[in-house]
Amino acid sequence: MTHKFLWGVATSAFQLEGSPYADWTTWDLKFQTHPDVTHHYHLYQKDLKLLKDLGVNAYRFSLEWSRIQPEEDHWNEEALRRSQNMVRILRDEQIEPLITLHHFTHPKWFIEKYAWHETRGKDKFLTFVERVVNDLPEVRYWITFNEPLVFLLGGYLEGSMPPGICDRISFIRAYKNILEAHGTAYDIIHSLSPEAWVGVAHNMVVFSPYRRWNLLDQFLAKIAHHYYNRSLLDALANGLLQIRFPVFKKIELKLPIRGKLDFLGVNYYTRIHLRFHPFRPMGLELKHEDRDGHGLTDMGWEIHPRGMEQTLWEASKIGCPMIITENGIATRDHQKKAKFLKGHIDTLDKCLKKGLDIRGYFYWSLVDHYEWLIGFDAKFGLYSMNYDTLERKATPAASFYSYLIKKRSHFQ
Ligand code: FCB
Repeated sequence: MTHKFLWGVATSAFQLEGSPYADWTTWDLKFQTHPDVTHHYHLYQKDLKLLKDLGVNAYRFSLEWSRIQPEEDHWNEEALRRSQNMVRILRDEQIEPLITLHHFTHPKWFIEKYAWHETRGKDKFLTFVERVVNDLPEVRYWITFNEPLVFLLGGYLEGSMPPGICDRISFIRAYKNILEAHGTAYDIIHSLSPEAWVGVAHNMVVFSPYRRWNLLDQFLAKIAHHYYNRSLLDALANGLLQIRFPVFKKIELKLPIRGKLDFLGVNYYTRIHLRFHPFRPMGLELKHEDRDGHGLTDMGWEIHPRGMEQTLWEASKIGCPMIITENGIATRDHQKKAKFLKGHIDTLDKCLKKGLDIRGYFYWSLVDHYEWLIGFDAKFGLYSMNYDTLERKATPAASFYSYLIKKRSHFQ
């Protein structure tokens, strides 16, 4: 299939509309003040119009599994029809849909009865995949998993996300099952929709030693890079998952997923400085610091546009076309948001000029929403959100993004 350069925005269903049937609904108490968040579930047509106003030609969104399959033996036909309707509206507006199948949340029944460390969990997810892909044959871009490592670290090592487990063996089992589920989902999607492009959205971070000349800090930055950035990339490219926890024996698993990736989604936000600290778990302290004078976001993350180039070069090593599936800033300062966009899109221009195979850029996010474990204060939206009146209002960054896209329409 021919590909135009995709200029878009990215969202996830749960962060925009919640779901009474999802594991996260009762997980984070902060979430409960606005359980329907932006009410996108019912107001989606209004929000899809905003895409048109922005002038984007692509939209990344997710399907909320718990809405579609609220009970293990019950499919919600209305939710399925709603997804078909969304795709139809986007197609009519010539906006390319990019659909994420797993974006952190699950139906409650899934996480209580199966979850990812259980092999049977994988089969349940694949049944969902088959059902929705079958219903949406005209969708060309699918993302099986959003940020598998963020989910695995949160859900299986830190216990900060459902299922809230802190156990290395379960972590490895879940990692393996997720990768295998990706491989089978890849095959299912291709069998139903041979032209489709299937990818994973991988969160990548620039890790840097806090004290540049300190050997321990350097070592930590290297290890973090290896496990956080590289292990998933290498597993997808070579079908070999390698993990080594300190003191434990190295684990190597051969998985039937080699080359099952049509594009790599890269979610890039920031750089993290690592410092050895003898009294912290694993001797590791993570620091956010404004080293280059670009400032920090409202979430304290360092703004580091240059790091996006470094990240894309690193990701390009697996030789797969790339799409920047997320890049964004939480700030109430509109000028800062516009500057962030300019800095990162300039970097993208540079990368394209140098020949990196990048097929699209998605700003995170369309409208302010619920942010995982943070709540409603992280303002990522190009549109701001009034949670009482449900009014969506264009910020100056929205028209600036439209302008940047228009200027680059020659990419298409
Ligand atoms: C990413 C998530 C996305 C959003 C941004 C800020 O890690 O994929 O859902 O929360 O961070």
